[in-house]
Amino acid sequence: MSDTPQLTRRPEWTALEDHRAQWQPHLRELFADDPSRAERYTVRVGDLRIDYSKHLITDETLALLQELATATDVFGLRDAMFRGERINVTENRAVLHTALRAPRDAVIEVDGENVVPQVHEVLDRMAGFADRIRSGEWTGHTGRRIRNVVNIGIGGSDLGPAMAYEVLRAYTDRELTVRFVSNVDGADLHEATRDLDPAETLFIVASKTFTTIETITNATSARSWLLAGLGGDEKAVARHFVALSTNAEKVAAFGIDTANMFEFWDWVGGRYSYDSAIGLSLMIAIGPDRFREMLDGFRIVDDHFRNAPAEANAPLLLGLLGVWYGNFFDAQTHAVLPYSHYLSKFTAYLQQLDMESNGKSVQRDGEPVQWQTGPVVWGTPGTNGQHAYYQLIHQGTKLIPADLIGFVNPVAELRGELKAQHDLLMANLFAQGQALAFGKTAEEVRAEGVPEEQVPHRTFHGNHPTTTVLATELTPSVLGQLIALYEHKVFVQGAIWNIDSFDQWGVELGKVLAKRVEPALTEGADVPGLDPSTAALVAAYRTLRK
Ligand code: F6P
Repeated sequence: MSDTPQLTRRPEWTALEDHRAQWQPHLRELFADDPSRAERYTVRVGDLRIDYSKHLITDETLALLQELATATDVFGLRDAMFRGERINVTENRAVLHTALRAPRDAVIEVDGENVVPQVHEVLDRMAGFADRIRSGEWTGHTGRRIRNVVNIGIGGSDLGPAMAYEVLRAYTDRELTVRFVSNVDGADLHEATRDLDPAETLFIVASKTFTTIETITNATSARSWLLAGLGGDEKAVARHFVALSTNAEKVAAFGIDTANMFEFWDWVGGRYSYDSAIGLSLMIAIGPDRFREMLDGFRIVDDHFRNAPAEANAPLLLGLLGVWYGNFFDAQTHAVLPYSHYLSKFTAYLQQLDMESNGKSVQRDGEPVQWQTGPVVWGTPGTNGQHAYYQLIHQGTKLIPADLIGFVNPVAELRGELKAQHDLLMANLFAQGQALAFGKTAEEVRAEGVPEEQVPHRTFHGNHPTTTVLATELTPSVLGQLIALYEHKVFVQGAIWNIDSFDQWGVELGKVLAKRVEPALTEGADVPGLDPSTAALVAAYRTLRK
């Protein structure tokens, strides 16, 4: 065991426990005592205005949380990350997604080599390729223009570009059809390709390792689909397949010319990669200039995280609030509720970012943790959620901290007749923040003439904490700002919990077992070591299989 004191034995931790035990805050009282808290507990970063005043905190809480951050050396680890040190200890890798958005003249070294020129070299190649697709200069095997782009990848090689494509739809070339295939269920590839013309379709095979079975299986099937549609000439593959990977050898072995490969590096984690070559489909859709605007947005928040003082450091504050609820209020989940249809895949993306990063139960040195780590992250666009699960947030028995995300102005395409709908949408966001925080007392309900027996049912206790993130408009830069905000929030929490936020060993066991079980399904092979329940399920599957 290391000499570092266990987190829960640190005096800064026990001070927070004492603070929590002595105090039963209600947001109604906190605001009554200090109406200025709305202004004092708002931080501005780039185009984001982040209001964290509707949290169960006082200045004392924030001071104690910041002492915990100091004691656990969050900023020390942050600086080590930005310097390119190998802070991903279990994989012995640097963690440098921030280098993906560094300016051309920055110097960031890994093992003595400046990686920034490589980053820009790949970005420039991506831009050249994206422009050729967008202009029609790059043609398919039969000389036809590419009109369809299908990204094949899974996890970080899918969720990022798929989410960002959706978020930035209003900025995309509407003449292009862009689809994302991830599931090894053949239905995904089938539905994505059934109405496409192979002569006009480009497949982007996105896989950091280029060994992921779902992606390789889908890419192999896509290759067969293409060749069947184009008369079987193998030379067609070079015009219709490109790869995004760190593994040139495997790309070549698959049959994709490495001249058509856009690389990234082992210091980019899969869930931190959509601003690398993994974003090629997005760059084709929105164009290189918009992609670069998005990178600028990431950088605004990187610089803020690196330089802002602790008391005004947005990722630090959001990370600390998550620790406050998860470790001192036993909150198990965290809801992310965007008030934007374009952000419909945003929370799914954050699920991987947060849960694959901080879903850990051993510390960096391998010792078990004695405290809660990452929350279950969930949510869907807010207005739809209001008519589904908000009931439980308002009147259920669980504490669910939530982020409400909205935009002051709709995107340009919606500024005509649909503008009034935007005001209604945002009215819902503001109303929910207020209702969750302040609720409705029994007296207020009675004053409305509600019969006594209904009063308990129609009372809202309130006191449900929310952060409101308000941005001027949904732009590529704002998307970059939002993603970097959450990336660094996740970082802060992993640092405090003393876990490695950059490995993902927990997904390995299932992968290995699936490979072992498959022959039992297809060939009836005997799989030693299956437990009785799984063995019976496999036998039933074999019996019913057509
Ligand atoms: O789910 C495990 C994982 O390794 C993710 O971290 C990663 O984003 C995903 O699989 C896909 O991996 P690859 O890009 O290597 O195909």
